[in-house]
Amino acid sequence: MTDRQDCYTVALIVGSVSKPSLNRRLANALIGLSVDAGLRFEDVPIGQLPHFGAEMQSEQDYPAAGREFKDAVDAADALLIVTPEYNRSIPGVLKNAVDWASRPMGQNSFTGRPVAVTGMSEGAVSTAVAQNHLKAILTSQGALVLGAPEAYIRYQSGMIADDGTVSDESVRAFLSSFLTAFRELIDSGQ
Ligand code: FNR
Repeated sequence: MTDRQDCYTVALIVGSVSKPSLNRRLANALIGLSVDAGLRFEDVPIGQLPHFGAEMQSEQDYPAAGREFKDAVDAADALLIVTPEYNRSIPGVLKNAVDWASRPMGQNSFTGRPVAVTGMSEGAVSTAVAQNHLKAILTSQGALVLGAPEAYIRYQSGMIADDGTVSDESVRAFLSSFLTAFRELIDSGQ
């Protein structure tokens, strides 16, 4: 057990490579609220990763792109994933990144790592199905997944600007409470 830190570094993965992206907007909103929660987000891109193949299981077969990605995740105290929902699951580009992080054998970046998941869409279920798929995957890989509050954000026009400015006070308060709960999860593992 070590002392709680004033600020934790959190690797931030946005599961969309679209431009523009609603989930990048949500990520920007969370970045804007992160200082008050004692979190510092470091963007970790995933669009450059090659498709993962089972032959890339060992350290010597691991390409530089995969190693750099893993190093960025491993350098952080925790991980936040902001995911779209595609066909009631997570986008392929995000699943590919999860597979990279889980290997090589014996070096699973999720083991014991605090992870929070959120996402935004205009749909009625607001990424709930995708998020629950992702949480199941992360739990199977030994991550400490934030269970509550669940953060299924239904986008409505003007709610969050491209730069992450949140115009709706209740949404801002909810996102802040989500980050505070995440911070407490990270604290509990220190
Ligand atoms: C979608 N979208 C969508 N939305 C949703 O709420 N549930 C779903 O199952 C799906 N399925 C889906 C499949 C595919 C192939 C696409 C392209 C889109 C709509 C999706 O939420 C919307 O495009 C978001 O804007 C995607 O997030 P980003 O990329 O803007 O962050």
